[in-house]
Amino acid sequence: MDKEIKTIGVLTSGGDAPGMNAAIRAVVRRAISKGKTVKGIQKGYQGLLNEEISDMEPRNVSDTIQRGGTILRTARCEEFKTLEGQKKGAEVCRKFGIDGLVIIGGDGSYRGAQALSKLGINTIGVPGTIDLDIACTDYTIGFDTAINTAMQAIDKIRDTSSSHERCSIVEVMGRNAGFIALWCGVSTGAEDILLPEKYQYNEQEIIDNIIANRKKGKTFHLIINAEGIGHSTSMARRIEAATGVETRATILGYMQRGGSPTCKDRFYASMMGSYAVDLLCEGKTNRVVGQKHGEWVDFDIDEALEMQKQISEYEYEVSRALSI
Ligand code: ADP
Ligand code: F6P
Repeated sequence: MDKEIKTIGVLTSGGDAPGMNAAIRAVVRRAISKGKTVKGIQKGYQGLLNEEISDMEPRNVSDTIQRGGTILRTARCEEFKTLEGQKKGAEVCRKFGIDGLVIIGGDGSYRGAQALSKLGINTIGVPGTIDLDIACTDYTIGFDTAINTAMQAIDKIRDTSSSHERCSIVEVMGRNAGFIALWCGVSTGAEDILLPEKYQYNEQEIIDNIIANRKKGKTFHLIINAEGIGHSTSMARRIEAATGVETRATILGYMQRGGSPTCKDRFYASMMGSYAVDLLCEGKTNRVVGQKHGEWVDFDIDEALEMQKQISEYEYEVSRALSI
């Protein structure tokens, strides 16, 4: 080890996710239990550049494990995508004595971590996003809470859709990734699940499916549409015109990002936050934490960002088969 880490910074970046507070709590307490000093950085990389930094003690994270959102707040910061912004960020770290930094966020945030690492600040990424779209890990903090929140909302929509014998299109989050849509679609027994990775923009297939299902005796029709496909309201109008079946669209939106984290999210966040601190204490940098096949693992950020995550063909095929 070149130099022992004395002060660990922690920030949350990109979209918030339930469980981020549990991850912050883990970083703070694990680091302090190892004799380190911890500094919390507000509002992601923007707060780093603005020097919104303060000491964190174990009591600063009391009563937070059950809270949604992030007590450190989060932001998107265009300036940090420039070399100038990154150099400034590294300078601020040095000014505050931060020699190791835990970044809780998605793969955009990892690029910032990668840049800081190249500038001499030891960085570790922790996967925090409801989208599950980070390839180097089987799990990302926030996904379980988000899918359960969405599933409960969809169950309610299903009740009214069934009562009125309507078609319902429910739009769930996932701009580039269909994991939320797939899991919610399967779990709510949706007739159609539209994923950014799979959708062929063939609305006629959906229309044909609705008409065929009516003939088979199905009295209502549930479509889960991922945000990446979007246009749920206009899609509903076209489907109603083509099928004669009353069709309503509901966009679940940001409610999916909030709320008290599930046990799974609290547990994963607690382990991943702690593991990130352990890596820093071992002198590691430019790494991301993950879980693969039940093991806590870490990868080089450069390699992690090259990896691709696909929707499972088997899961997609099963989703089609179960909707007959
Ligand atoms: P997420 O981390 O959830 O994927 P974003 O993609 O919005 O969310 O990224 C969060 C922040 O990470 C950005 O606002 C920016 O500050 C930083 N970031 C994203 N891409 C880069 C990049 N190429 N270089 C440096 N920083 C980046
Ligand atoms: O990363 C989670 C996510 O909810 C995506 O599914 C969505 O596309 C994005 O965040 C929207 O974030 P915002 O509107 O805050 O930029």
